[in-house]
Amino acid sequence: MAARMMPSRHDPIRPRGERPVGISVDGEAVDGVEGQTIAGVVLATGRLAWRRTSVDGRPRGLFCGIGVCFDCIVTVNGERDVRACQRRATDGDVVETQHDELPEAAR
Ligand code: FES
Repeated sequence: MAARMMPSRHDPIRPRGERPVGISVDGEAVDGVEGQTIAGVVLATGRLAWRRTSVDGRPRGLFCGIGVCFDCIVTVNGERDVRACQRRATDGDVVETQHDELPEAAR
């Protein structure tokens, strides 16, 4: 198992006293721990991609992990284009994946 896919309960470097957070991703309840990014919570479920490119429909998820590439964008609590690798998960967050089509004029 790759380190990035390690469930938080098996992470040997997790801080003590962690508090659980619960978010929903496309309506599915997902558990994480306080301090994890939304991308970290989603990756721990085993999901590697959560959106598709608008041109070719190719899968995208975490790529750079440092907020540069925007491959990981999601909608969080109604706010679009949030970089999942940069936003810490907070209890009750509602995360929706984005699959935007290209506008007709751009085709
Ligand atoms: S993975 Fe590159 S901005 Fe989030």
